[in-house]
Amino acid sequence: MSNVFFVGCGPGDPELITVKAKKLIQKADIVVYSGSLIPPTILKLCKKGKLHNAAGLVREEIFDILYKNAKKNKFVVRLHDGDPSIYGAIKEQIDNLQKKGISSVVVPGVTAFLAAAAELGTQLSLPGVTQTIIVTRAESRTKVPTREKISELAKHKATLIFYLSVHLLSDIVKESLAGGYKKSTPVAVVYRATWKDQKIVKGTLDNITKKVRDEKITRTAIVIISNVIDSKSYEYSRLYDKKFSHGYRKSKIK
Ligand SMILES: C[S@@+](CC[C@H](N)C(=O)[O-])C[C@H]1O[C@@H](n2cnc3c(N)ncnc32)[C@H](O)[C@@H]1O
Repeated sequence: MSNVFFVGCGPGDPELITVKAKKLIQKADIVVYSGSLIPPTILKLCKKGKLHNAAGLVREEIFDILYKNAKKNKFVVRLHDGDPSIYGAIKEQIDNLQKKGISSVVVPGVTAFLAAAAELGTQLSLPGVTQTIIVTRAESRTKVPTREKISELAKHKATLIFYLSVHLLSDIVKESLAGGYKKSTPVAVVYRATWKDQKIVKGTLDNITKKVRDEKITRTAIVIISNVIDSKSYEYSRLYDKKFSHGYRKSKIK
């Protein structure tokens, strides 16, 4: 019996795949991939293997493909967009494979919020603004624990990042304001970060819903609410301050 490899292949730009992920796809006999979010160029790396699109399959069908092929000693890759650990539903598959004696290996990838931050050219934490990044989703069919309500998270005034939620943007705005964010708080929505048809919409809590509606963005986007976006007022980092000493460098002030 072989391992099953749960592999992240990045946000869309085929050059943002890791060397490891590329080698595993090239070697695979079987690749089960996460539908339209996997770029065709990456799927073409799978020369000798058989491809299965998970978009049309349910959990049990995916499990069957992974399990039966691993049992036959096939080299099996479950290919995820971004990073498999971020809203990737891998735990249930790993546990069910384990129950049948099959081990899994997880290979990380560049997740969408990091690609979005890169495309915005921003830093997600800034001294004097926030040192905390909260990654979450708005509630829809998947329930979110009450203590993680957006209005509760917003109280921290940290960088708030939403997956799977752009279609619920008006709720996100309402809850963020209820949690204490000002109407002038900057918001960025990055649609299909790093893909050729990427769109970036920037605004504030006051106007972002209309701007995103005008752009007809209803899916595959990251929403970032934070004063780090285009911030003019922040402090320089201590780490690179000439007065600051640390394990690898003495202060440059005599
Ligand atoms: C099921 S989650 C999978 C996330 C993925 N595992 C990751 O690490 O990026 C799908 C959601 O990820 C976000 N997403 C995935 N790729 C994206 C991209 N290239 N640009 C913006 N958002 C993306 C969207 O919020 C989308 O609804």
